[in-house]
Amino acid sequence: MKNTLSWVLVLFLTVSLLNNCLSNKVQKDIEQKKSFIAKLRELYASGDSSKWPVPMLDEEAKPYFSEIGHLPDIQFPKDNEYSSEKELLGKTLFYDPRLSGSNQIACASCHDPELGWCDNRMVSFGHDRQLGTRNAMSILNTAYATSLFWDGRASSLEEQSEMPIQDQKEMSEHIDIAAGKIAKIKGYEILFEKAFGDKAITKERIAKAIATFERTIKSSPSKFDRFIDGEINLFTDNEIMGLHLFRTKAQCINCHNSGYFSNNRFENIGTSLLSSEQEDLGRYLVTKKSEDVGKFRVPSLREVVRTGPWMHNGSFTSLADIIQIYNKGNPEPYKNRTTVHNGIELTSQKSDMLRLLELTDEEVMQLEAFLTTLSTRNQRISPPILPK
Ligand code: HEC
Ligand code: HEC
Repeated sequence: MKNTLSWVLVLFLTVSLLNNCLSNKVQKDIEQKKSFIAKLRELYASGDSSKWPVPMLDEEAKPYFSEIGHLPDIQFPKDNEYSSEKELLGKTLFYDPRLSGSNQIACASCHDPELGWCDNRMVSFGHDRQLGTRNAMSILNTAYATSLFWDGRASSLEEQSEMPIQDQKEMSEHIDIAAGKIAKIKGYEILFEKAFGDKAITKERIAKAIATFERTIKSSPSKFDRFIDGEINLFTDNEIMGLHLFRTKAQCINCHNSGYFSNNRFENIGTSLLSSEQEDLGRYLVTKKSEDVGKFRVPSLREVVRTGPWMHNGSFTSLADIIQIYNKGNPEPYKNRTTVHNGIELTSQKSDMLRLLELTDEEVMQLEAFLTTLSTRNQRISPPILPK
């Protein structure tokens, strides 16, 4: 009896000792994690990005890398300098449905400031409520894009602006007719005169004014901008970990970098769905180079919370789902990797920069938390008075 009692006592002591050790270890782990995050907080909010931990970059990403940070000042091209009169004219035209065939659809119909300057639809509808094939991009910060559209088929905002006007499924109007309609509206003369020095109304001037207005649509400083400027307590621990993962383990920074959170390059992340009804050859449609099959312009992640649903086809409705896809190395179903287009066999080659990331559920949540810090609130924009 005595013997059994002492055994029970020994067992009890061992268990409680073990338990103690274990909770000490858990305690220590938590403390280590806390001090790691505290250190990261200090570095990232130091106001000096050269103090930040080194980013984890692939060799092929290095030539196109610049650190994430603030958006630089907007540059206006030499042949289309800024003036507030030109901006106002551009804004008026952007809202004017008379540029469309039906006189019902304006640029602002699909690029609505109350909807993050896009339309928050999977794909847009335009003339006669026809559906397009791609998700409308936000024009927020479009001044920083070095080519326009998901496939980069326009090289300047001036060049871009007449494309939706002429697109049969969007505004469905010949550009000369559209310009002619604007020229007949008396009230526009004064706006053109103020913007360009005389009353002449041409399609070139319409393009220049719209482009000038679009360049002014820039995000105000986000939570991220304020945090890296030194508002050290603005980020939660999860947001700090998300920022760190974005630059390191998750390697988002290989492509989504610079103040614009895009390197402005074209990459294939396995979204082209070849041989399916939604097949989209992306950049290939512009260059006809086989290596460009399935590549799309790396989109900016600024304001991403406001610009869903996401991807060129609006196929994702959740940011966490997108992160999970990257986590799995962007698997592309075998049957969607090849297609025959105009008699040519084409293959989708996913970027080598995508791989299994082994992010835990907590890390996925942290990355998502960080992405939300890149967005700002909708700003109220008062629509212009349309001239008569
Ligand atoms: C019917 C809806 C619709 C209308 C109207 C429309 N857009 Fe778009 N816009 C889109 C879609 C969809 C895309 C992406 C198309 C693609 O990549 O092929 C886009 C892309 C853009 C882009 C590219 C942004 C970037 O970062 O690359 C700009 C700029 C733009 N539109 C400006 C305009 C202007 C200016 C007008 C008016 C003249 C206009 N849009 C009218 C739907 C529309
Ligand atoms: C190899 C380059 C590359 C890497 C690495 C990369 N992305 Fe992307 N990302 C892209 C491209 C290209 C698209 C657009 C694809 C499309 O539209 O089909 C995109 C789209 C997105 C979108 C949708 C944005 C929108 O406006 O529709 C999100 C969100 C996103 N990426 C987040 C991330 C995150 C988070 C990581 C890191 C886990 C990451 N990306 C890593 C190239 C990359």
